[in-house]
Amino acid sequence: MKKIVVLVSGGGTNLQALIDAEKSGIIKNGSITCVISSNPKAYALERAAKNGIGTRVLPRREYADSLSYSKAILNALNEENADLVVLAGFMTILDECVTKEYAYRIINVHPALIPSFCGEGFYGLRVHQAALDYGVKISGATVHFVNEKADAGAIILQKAVEVMADDTPQTLQKRIMEQAEWKILPEAVSLFCQDRINIVDGKAVIK
Ligand code: GAR
Repeated sequence: MKKIVVLVSGGGTNLQALIDAEKSGIIKNGSITCVISSNPKAYALERAAKNGIGTRVLPRREYADSLSYSKAILNALNEENADLVVLAGFMTILDECVTKEYAYRIINVHPALIPSFCGEGFYGLRVHQAALDYGVKISGATVHFVNEKADAGAIILQKAVEVMADDTPQTLQKRIMEQAEWKILPEAVSLFCQDRINIVDGKAVIK
């Protein structure tokens, strides 16, 4: 059984999707053993506690820079013996001291179809605002491995979602979460835990 550590910063609806998927057996050969939050007030912490999952809080603002924060995260991941790290609405970019040690063992869910509307500065509602500003008719979500460049690691799964003419960033975010993120994130976690993701020429190939 692989140990899954989930990193969060906010509401934690993706964490909830993972918890539900573990309970219903959608996630095979994996169990969420710890939730780490960069934000002491994140509702995700309550979701973890309600489900008997251990939590750690590492407030981003208590660390001077990204490197010292990333070292603290690395230390916590090692203490938890994480097999898989899931960034589920985690709003801090991790330094390469983490991404190198956990290469192909960290996955992230991004609320757009990478390579659109991604990279530094594209997070949360900003992603959906950018998609609406551009006028795309289709957006969606991407689950990918995390490497040293923001949102640039090998893509594991993607799912497209229609954009409606009267969408606001909030309505688009909700539709993308419901129709894409909450489905493909647990699916990708389950594939990882069953050793069904191969890396071939830098690309993720599902067995
Ligand atoms: C989700 O839409 C997630 O894809 C996004 O933040 C939201 C977190 O919601 N993540 C990013 O933008 C990271 N670049 P949640 O806390 O309810 O899961």
